[in-house]
Amino acid sequence: MASTSYDVIVIGSGPGGYVCAIRAAQLGMKVACVEKRDTLGGTCLNIGCIPSKALLSASEKYHEAESEFAKYGISTGGVKLDLAGMMQYKDSVVDANTKGIEFLFKKNKVDWLKGAGKITAKNIVEVDGTKYEAKHIVIATGSDVSGLPGIEIDEECVVSSEGALKLGKVPKEMVVIGGGVIGMELGSVWSRLGANVTVVEYMDQILLGMDGEIRKEAAKIFKKQGVTLKTSAKVTAVKNTGKGVELSVEPAQGGTAETIKADVVLVAVGRKAYTDSLGLDGVGVETDERGRVITDGHFKTNVEGIYAIGDVIAGPMLAHKAEDEGVVLAEILDGQSGHIDYNLIPGVVYTYPEVASVGQTEEQLKDAGIKYKVGKFPFMANGRARAINMTDGFVKILADAKSDKVLGCHIIGAEAGTLIGEVVMAMEFGASSEDIARTCHAHPTLQEVIKEAALAVEGNQIHM
Ligand code: NAI
Repeated sequence: MASTSYDVIVIGSGPGGYVCAIRAAQLGMKVACVEKRDTLGGTCLNIGCIPSKALLSASEKYHEAESEFAKYGISTGGVKLDLAGMMQYKDSVVDANTKGIEFLFKKNKVDWLKGAGKITAKNIVEVDGTKYEAKHIVIATGSDVSGLPGIEIDEECVVSSEGALKLGKVPKEMVVIGGGVIGMELGSVWSRLGANVTVVEYMDQILLGMDGEIRKEAAKIFKKQGVTLKTSAKVTAVKNTGKGVELSVEPAQGGTAETIKADVVLVAVGRKAYTDSLGLDGVGVETDERGRVITDGHFKTNVEGIYAIGDVIAGPMLAHKAEDEGVVLAEILDGQSGHIDYNLIPGVVYTYPEVASVGQTEEQLKDAGIKYKVGKFPFMANGRARAINMTDGFVKILADAKSDKVLGCHIIGAEAGTLIGEVVMAMEFGASSEDIARTCHAHPTLQEVIKEAALAVEGNQIHM
């Protein structure tokens, strides 16, 4: 039985909200978490990170079985795609993860208040008509898809990332609007399953925000994989003809439009903070020009006792950023001090190969006038990468020209998202590139590419 009075009520059970709720409960607070979806875990577990990673992995395996197995001396006698089976696998992964959070809530005695939460006073949350009192209210309502003006998302022909995770058949022609993280991840899935994928990106390169050299290499590799990239181009209209979709695509700077036909269009042009029906105006919580809840360095809003974390506030819209904020906020509410170094939040794109980044890019260092050294090493020169047939890409380490402190690391290559962890940890401890280079790395591993890139900062790489 849910009580009506809590120390903390968290609104939203995504990675920010559920982690904050669990940590607060661990610290002895009486906690409830409001969630209107039928399952816990928010966008990440239900319709984001987890289902997309299940499809990315399954489609990589399909593609490998189809086109690479013969190279390893494995004859399959023909590989067939069972899309419904693949979707079932994805759903089972989502189910296990969301049930896992339900179990963790029970274990930690966090009450799940089922329904939509609305803040009706500075210490009252109303959930479907019932009022609950809280000393602290945490807004962790996340983000929602940003559409394009005049383009209606029907989740069938014109889909958001949510619809792109449950297409009933492989489209023949698929257009992805936006060459960002979602566009490249989900575009890759459907390309590997057999669709002709065209990505239309407004900027002159895909993967905005990543290091320039990595972006170029990514474009080269995706093109080699058969994805068509139309950069410096914008979609101005999308028409559903009943038989498919017709898109008007113009050069970004204006000019003659061309028409592209597609069976499915994925709109992946970003996400926006989600605060619908939350009652923020009523209690006077301030938001910025992009609708994000304004907080101070300790996640406090302008209203006493109301806090916000995750996608709904400023910063990268990443599950692990939200999780860290959830933990730090719970500890602050417990009277502890907490701090997050936002420069050390890694970003990963789970394409094949993966792209990962931490710290500053070369462009940012140049803009800031910081003198730096570069160490680069290709996966092609790594024995393990060759043995597992994953030789695309490179690691790039940027270190301060004088102190040798690592300022950034950018990876495109197999397991980049896992490999970056070593560098995040090194940077967290203020390591120099020499510290990484002198650390023993097991052989044969992909991690040796990190060591070689660190050695290369001083031109001391061994295997090139
Ligand atoms: P994004 O911000 O990563 O990329 C959107 C892209 O669309 C940009 O490159 C932008 O230039 C382009 N664009 C905008 N308007 C356009 C137009 N009219 N025509 C053509 N191109 C246009 O946004 P995305 O991919 O939708 O992802 C949303 C959020 O979700 C991001 O913050 C991302 O970090 C997060 N996310 C993270 C993942 C990860 O960590 N692996 C996976 C999926 C999403």
